[in-house]
Amino acid sequence: SSAPTAALLIGYLLGSIPFGVILTRSFGAGDLRKIGSGNIGATNVLRTGRKGLAAATLLLDMAKGFAAVLIVDRLFPGDAPLAAAGAFFGHCYPIWLGFRGGKGVATLMGIVLALHWQLGLIYAAIWLGLLATLRISSLAGMAAAIAAPVAAAAFGWFDIVPLLIALALIVLWKHRTNIGRLIDGTEPRVGRKSA
Ligand code: G3P
Repeated sequence: SSAPTAALLIGYLLGSIPFGVILTRSFGAGDLRKIGSGNIGATNVLRTGRKGLAAATLLLDMAKGFAAVLIVDRLFPGDAPLAAAGAFFGHCYPIWLGFRGGKGVATLMGIVLALHWQLGLIYAAIWLGLLATLRISSLAGMAAAIAAPVAAAAFGWFDIVPLLIALALIVLWKHRTNIGRLIDGTEPRVGRKSA
């Protein structure tokens, strides 16, 4: 059976867990909101110099999106896209942080992987490929997010294309200050000091 409200709520509750904030606070890495870009994602955790915490944030932010989709798909078949939307909104607009959340790139990775593993592979290839070559996290993440609906359409999964377009637009909106820095040529590269 279908339970749209429950699917959205389960997604939101999982997505809104701010792993970056929790991990940096728990392991004495300082206040993430006052470091670098002030973002709660793995890229900014990396700016604390704690690579292990950054890797854990990346994996857990992916895992919550992945888990939300799979859990809801088991409980309420057909409601997985609502869980995806809920988890993404939870990460980007968590009630626990006054709705000031992350930029969605890692959580979206987990979501697309759970929806269709082939999308996850394409997303990861674009994201990690651009990250390894350009070393600009924001640009790599935005490119992967934009590629997701394009790839879904190419596979013929038109049911999730509108959702993925909406999520990609939110990823771009969340990166608006990054886009400004990219245009100015001042966006920091990963593995360098300033942010
Ligand atoms: O996923 C976030 C990343 O794309 C950008 O993070 O901290 O460089 O704004 P940041």
